[in-house]
Amino acid sequence: MLNIVVCVSGGGTNLQAIIDGVAEGKIRNTKIVGVISNNTGAYALTRAENAGIPAFCVSPKNFGSREEFNNAFLNQLEALNPDLIVLAGFLVILPEKMIEVYRERIINIHPSLIPSFCGTGYFGLKVHEAALARGVKVTGATVHYVDEGTDTGRIIMQKAVEVLAGDTPEALQRRVMEQAEWVILPKAIDEIASSWE
Ligand code: GAR
Repeated sequence: MLNIVVCVSGGGTNLQAIIDGVAEGKIRNTKIVGVISNNTGAYALTRAENAGIPAFCVSPKNFGSREEFNNAFLNQLEALNPDLIVLAGFLVILPEKMIEVYRERIINIHPSLIPSFCGTGYFGLKVHEAALARGVKVTGATVHYVDEGTDTGRIIMQKAVEVLAGDTPEALQRRVMEQAEWVILPKAIDEIASSWE
């Protein structure tokens, strides 16, 4: 059984796709042992509670320094003892130690086809604004391992999505979520879990 912790900052639709995937048997051999958010108001925490999953908030606002926050966050992770950490819209710069301790055991979903529209400053709606400004006709989403860089880790899975005439950033974001993110993130977890004892 693959024990996963999902880290979230916002609405948590990708978290919901994982919760549903486990419930429907699309993600096999996997247990969500906890959800951690840096944001007290994240609706993702409510989604976790509704599904009976232990949910925790570790907010930088409650700590005097970044180091104290990083330590509290790492302690919370360690207490949950995950095999795999899934970043599902987690908009926090990870402590370096976390990447060392959980090397090749952290995955992230990014809302573009890496290496396009990724790296520092490319998150959430900004990614889709940039894709529309560049005029690409195809975008998509990527699941990748997390290393020291921003969106530079080994790619696990990608799915392309068409950009349509008249798209707004919000419309494109929704299509990328529906057609790519909510499909490949559960699929990637299922694949990792299938090779886990
Ligand atoms: C998702 O689109 C995810 O790909 C993106 O944030 C959104 C979170 O939505 N992540 C990044 O941009 C990371 N660089 P959600 O909270 O509804 O899953």
